[in-house]
Amino acid sequence: MNFQFTEEQEMIRQTAKDFAEAEIAPSATERDINGEFPVEIVKKLGELGFMGMMVSPEYGGAGMDTLSYVLAMIEISKVDASVGVIMSVNNSLVTWGLEQFGSDHLKDKYLVPLAQGLKLGAFALSEPEAGSDATNQNTMAEKEGDYYIVNGIKNWITNGKMADYYIVMAQTDKVKRHKGISALLVEKGTEGFEQAKKEDKLGIRSSDTCSLTFNNCKVPAENLIWEEGKGFNFAMKTLNGGRIGIAAQALGIAEASLEAAIKYAKTRKAFGTEIANHQAIQFKLADMAMELESAKLLTFRAASLKDNHLDYTKESAMAKLAASKAAVHCALEAIQIHGGYGYVREYLVERYLRDAKITEIYEGTSEIQRLVIARSLLVQ
Ligand code: CAA
Repeated sequence: MNFQFTEEQEMIRQTAKDFAEAEIAPSATERDINGEFPVEIVKKLGELGFMGMMVSPEYGGAGMDTLSYVLAMIEISKVDASVGVIMSVNNSLVTWGLEQFGSDHLKDKYLVPLAQGLKLGAFALSEPEAGSDATNQNTMAEKEGDYYIVNGIKNWITNGKMADYYIVMAQTDKVKRHKGISALLVEKGTEGFEQAKKEDKLGIRSSDTCSLTFNNCKVPAENLIWEEGKGFNFAMKTLNGGRIGIAAQALGIAEASLEAAIKYAKTRKAFGTEIANHQAIQFKLADMAMELESAKLLTFRAASLKDNHLDYTKESAMAKLAASKAAVHCALEAIQIHGGYGYVREYLVERYLRDAKITEIYEGTSEIQRLVIARSLLVQ
């Protein structure tokens, strides 16, 4: 595989980098402290075509490939991983699945404004007792005439308060377990649907995460995505692509950590010379760069397989596993290189560590990625 980027891919990467540095960086620390959602930034990302990057122009998207999406995600997340996850959920978990599996009605009514960045989406799979064990869905959707009546609770929903449209997995036939799960599109404002308290998180604090409650919530039957009973399959396929987005988010954090560490090591003096001249520091920088580059190649490979319509289940899990591990380790090492300065807000590396940790948890923990990889190996 040759990862020589095309002129267009390079242009997209550069646009994302320029936008991140000019428009996202100045408010990132303040938004992290206050847990403030970047409303204006998300609006501008929509104008750039970054909220529906892989959606075809026919449905209001930018018609770009997954590799371009990865490059943009790296640049955005390098500056602010909170903005990265907001963008990733809308692109990977919401618009992608709607375009692949949604009816014409759903595409015309919901996909177009989502892809244009005029509306924001969220993906609701997790529940209080269904995180990693995602087949254990307790949210119910009972068909009554032209509606589904939805009851239940969803947890840890990114864009939970701010979204306009939610893709919600629910049991339409509990007896069939995961083969009785269906995916429904629920609009904010539907009676019986409420956003509960916003979570006060360790990292990605400027993104919004909350739980959702459904109390006899009446959802039009035409908002069913794909078919009844296909909701778990839909969620898993969608998450395979989502994991590429989170891998890219983690790569952005790892890259930011490495760059911060190099910059600091070249200026900070100890024992009569810049600390970059000490082997103890050089070994760390070399390991960080190697981890970052290997995770990048895995992520580019997964993206390329997806673009070529080949199976990328195992590869996206490998990319996410490697990139999230690299992000946490690179952020930890960047703090170590900064010494005491790494432990305070003035230098950004403490945020990188707080933001990195979630990449080992959401869209499947590292343990789930290993399960996906191992199962794939064992069936061959
Ligand atoms: N791709 C496609 N299909 C998959 C799949 C994958 N990665 N993983 C599982 N499946 C399919 C299986 O093939 C199987 O299909 P059939 O029944 O048709 O044979 C079905 O799903 C059930 O799979 P298993 O029998 O393996 O079920 P399991 O319970 O043993 O394991 C699991 C399933 C892999 C652990 C799955 O529950 C899982 O991925 N859990 C993690 C869920 C997750 O990632 N949650 C993230 C929440 S979303 C989020 O974080 C969004 C956000 O806001 C940022």
